Amino acid sequence: MLDHNAPLRVADPTVARLIDQELRRQQQGLELIASENFASRAVIDAMGTPLTNKYAEGYPGRRYYGGCEVVDQIEQLAIDRLKQLFGAEHANVQPHSGAQANFAAFMAVVKPGETIMGMSLPHGGHLSHGAAVNHSGTIWRAVHYGVDPATGRIDYDQVREQARRERPRLIIAGGSAYARIIDFAAFRSIADEVGAIFLVDMAHFAGLVAGGVYPSPVPHAQVVTSTTHKTLRGPRAGLILSTAEYAKAIDKSVFPGTQGGPLQHVIAAKAVAFGEALTDDFKQYSRQVVDNAKALARGLTNRGYAIVSGGTDSHLMLVDLRPKNLTGKVAEAVLGRAAITVNKNTVPDDPQSPFVTSGIRIGTPAVTTRGMGVKEMGRIADLIDRALSQQHDEAALAKVRRDVETLTSAFPLYRAAGPAASRRSAASPGVR
Ligand SMILES: Cc1ncc(COP(=O)(O)O)c(C=O)c1O
Repeated sequence: MLDHNAPLRVADPTVARLIDQELRRQQQGLELIASENFASRAVIDAMGTPLTNKYAEGYPGRRYYGGCEVVDQIEQLAIDRLKQLFGAEHANVQPHSGAQANFAAFMAVVKPGETIMGMSLPHGGHLSHGAAVNHSGTIWRAVHYGVDPATGRIDYDQVREQARRERPRLIIAGGSAYARIIDFAAFRSIADEVGAIFLVDMAHFAGLVAGGVYPSPVPHAQVVTSTTHKTLRGPRAGLILSTAEYAKAIDKSVFPGTQGGPLQHVIAAKAVAFGEALTDDFKQYSRQVVDNAKALARGLTNRGYAIVSGGTDSHLMLVDLRPKNLTGKVAEAVLGRAAITVNKNTVPDDPQSPFVTSGIRIGTPAVTTRGMGVKEMGRIADLIDRALSQQHDEAALAKVRRDVETLTSAFPLYRAAGPAASRRSAASPGVR
């Protein structure tokens, strides 16, 4: 357990023990879920503070509660750093999560009943972009574009044609399982042609944008939403950027529109994370995330795995397991037994249900944070292949698990405390 949790161990040993258990799982396993990362100790420290005690409804300088003079400075710092990081005209750091950010942003710019158009969930979009089971799919009339089945990529001519037909009020780009660079200029030109507002949900690739290894949507979209905990490596939360024109509407829609008091301890952690993302170390980290994803995709391809769209430009890849006669559900479970964590994921036009799926999604942000590089990606491809090809051999799976633990123990996580750790952390992002 992280040192600052010592009081918890005394006050509530049951919860402390479970946190210890989860920490060990993170330390020993190979974390390949594309939407996860390891926040720095500094980010985690900021969250575990008395800032959680403070009510601060409103915005810096305009609160509904007294005693906000300190949290005003913290929130303003987070806003300023975020604007600097992405070159945005306006930033709101209060959304509690990515889904909350999307809901508030949509409510700010589209009226209930109007049409929104986003990427379909089974093709790599997100639930909150108008999926039928999400409230966004009932409040608005949602239509969806997909990827070209032959290329696995967005076909911008088809998107334009669909937009001309459907006349959406809002067009959304970005998703959870699209590995390729998105042409934001093409989307904006489509949105302008049909009189739609263009919103980008950069939750997955925000850290890559911050690090300069993925194009920025900010010059093209009126509104940009994100999570802060994936490639951006901050606390679990959300954010919204916009042009000055939409600033007021966005702020009103977050509070009082959809949320109450902001989580100031999380906002402090966002300020820390944005500060980290402004450093050259973070640029280097982002570059490594993408290099690692490309290397891992190559390693899997060489072992006969089919990667949707043939590869990746980002931190993630979608593996179509049909040529291996495996489902995503089985693969997720088998890899889990070998301490390799991935998630099952639909592939475009998947014949299986979302509970079974034909694919897995794999990402490199977390293992890269531990300090792993291209060489380790070759080992990881091998470990994945060994586990999946010996799924009925318990002894073989146990051996893969031991090899996983040998690999992860060479890249310690949240382990060393004190001055030695901070000396090492400059050299190796894995020791944090
Ligand atoms: C593209 C995208 N948007 C929004 C979200 C929702 O974020 P949260 O889980 O913080 O609500 C996710 C999470 O997976 C996502 O991938």
